[in-house]
Amino acid sequence: MRSFLLTAGCFAGVLLAASCRHAVVDPAPQPPPATPTPDPLVARGQSRFIAYKCHECHGPHGEGTDDAPDLTGTHLDAVEIAQFLEKPSAHARSVGMPSIPADSPDIQLLVAFVLSLKRGRPAP
Ligand code: HEC
Repeated sequence: MRSFLLTAGCFAGVLLAASCRHAVVDPAPQPPPATPTPDPLVARGQSRFIAYKCHECHGPHGEGTDDAPDLTGTHLDAVEIAQFLEKPSAHARSVGMPSIPADSPDIQLLVAFVLSLKRGRPAP
């Protein structure tokens, strides 16, 4: 209750544009840093990533290799990634990147996985 009152006072202080940092004597423990919720699509996408040997060119974490670019930094969005997987660029095909049929359920899984790599990219 005491800390609730302090917190309420703190909000009032914020409204008055005063710093409330000193008012909080007993701050509630901070929640642990957000850990990404395991997403079943992403997990299945990861196993597809390995099954299609994407990791052999793009690296196990999509970090890129001499053969293929870093996927964690891709500027492509979900739709563009799906299109790329259905029809890789001439360069990608020339090195052996597989194309995935548009009606394959793997597209959605791989897109989820690639997007998760992008989100999980550590800040520079
Ligand atoms: C034989 C090597 C190879 C394999 C295997 C491979 N790729 Fe690629 N991939 C490439 C190369 C090379 C490029 C770059 C093509 C370009 O720049 O035109 C590329 C580009 C991409 C891009 C576009 C990245 C961007 O930002 O433009 C995505 C997405 C991608 N690959 C996903 C995958 C996925 C998913 C798999 C597995 C299904 C896969 N790749 C398998 C070689 C490979």
